[in-house]
Amino acid sequence: METKKSHRQTHINPQAPASSLEAKQPDLNLGTECYATDGYFDPQSITLEFQKLWSQSWLLAGVTSDLAELGDYFLFDIQHESIIVTRSKAGIQAFYNVCSHRGAMLVTEPRGNQKVFVCPFHRWTFRNSGDLVRITDEDTFDPRVVGHRPGLTKVACETHAGLIFISMADDPPPLKQAIGLPEGYLEPYQIDKMKVVRHVRSEWGSNWKVGVEAFYESYHLHAVHPETTGMMGDLNVQYDLYPSGASRMIVPLGQPSPRLYDQTTVNEGLQFLLGEAGIDPTTFKGDAGDVRGAIQSAKRERAEREGLDYSDFVDGQLSDSWATGIFPNVQIGCHPEALFLMRFMPHISDPQRFYYDTMTLIMPTGDADATAPQWMGLPEGTDISGRQRPATENYSLEEDANLGLVLSQDAAFLPRVQQGMRSKGFTGQLWGEQEQRLRHFHVELQRRLELA
Ligand code: FES
Ligand SMILES: [Fe+2]
Repeated sequence: METKKSHRQTHINPQAPASSLEAKQPDLNLGTECYATDGYFDPQSITLEFQKLWSQSWLLAGVTSDLAELGDYFLFDIQHESIIVTRSKAGIQAFYNVCSHRGAMLVTEPRGNQKVFVCPFHRWTFRNSGDLVRITDEDTFDPRVVGHRPGLTKVACETHAGLIFISMADDPPPLKQAIGLPEGYLEPYQIDKMKVVRHVRSEWGSNWKVGVEAFYESYHLHAVHPETTGMMGDLNVQYDLYPSGASRMIVPLGQPSPRLYDQTTVNEGLQFLLGEAGIDPTTFKGDAGDVRGAIQSAKRERAEREGLDYSDFVDGQLSDSWATGIFPNVQIGCHPEALFLMRFMPHISDPQRFYYDTMTLIMPTGDADATAPQWMGLPEGTDISGRQRPATENYSLEEDANLGLVLSQDAAFLPRVQQGMRSKGFTGQLWGEQEQRLRHFHVELQRRLELA
């Protein structure tokens, strides 16, 4: 690969009005502090993070399209806690997955439809609104023990733009404030109308924060994912920092990396993207610099033909990846036709492992024979009709989760970072401008861990 020295373009669209969601946010001065690394391997970090972070934050539990019918439920498990998220008559609600009698876990099936939950231990019965319906042999209980009709214990649960969040905090802050993204940021994607077409939970060999960090920058693309340089403007990425630890990077797709000498040839990667947008690359007249714009126009025309409303999307949203982070452990790859919802879930006991939980959501097009565009990285034959919610695929550390080339490269590489960070010879991460989201994440993390 021939490379050249190049300058970074920090604004994806310098003409974007300040009020636009595309506009570059003012840079923040977050200092140059080098943070300690014990939190990546010290077993005590599991307890500390549970106390200060996981039990106190709003966490992305799932999507509303998974709870379309009354009685639909799914489990959201985080470390030792398991939470039932369900659609009851009162709307979407969440409860600890635990029987009020002797504490048995009520449900083990990760997803289903049940309007009542019957505890398998002594068959106490609860409505999915949490109310206790029946105590087996109730006459054998002193009313002073059960007279308060102990139902399921509620967990705070709210939705935003088709996403369901829960919080185990006693007095959680307003959800919108915790999400931190600008007003109207997620709504145009109409996530509530999108359907999950693949859900994978794979175990990776590093701390969950190493995962977040790798996905919060595009600085490693040329090194770990060299095949992306033909079609991703990795140096021209716009990084934006929002309140509450939220952040975003806009990765321009459909342009060669500024690291490459050749900025004109419509290379293989660009031809691939043109084809995916419905443009025949063999008759395409422009050069590499015209590809991104051509993809934007083609996608807008396609949306019109298919009756999809793209009026709230700026051109860049049609071609680029708006990778959007919500503190503490979410990144959403936002595209009008699909959404990649990633969660970096801590391991229950091992700080050197985490679960990469990723859902692919697609906006159904009404075309029953539609197959998934290749750029979405779905295995061949994936049903994208949205008619049936696929089961979650679970993979252990040793198994291949079939996540596609780029993600497999990350999964294979991160244990190397994990191991190196533990060395006496490593004194802490040194971040550059392209890693500003990492510092922003750690400033918020530090603040939260230090809260009394
Ligand atoms: S523990 Fe649930 S009925 Fe006894
Ligand atoms: Fe990567």
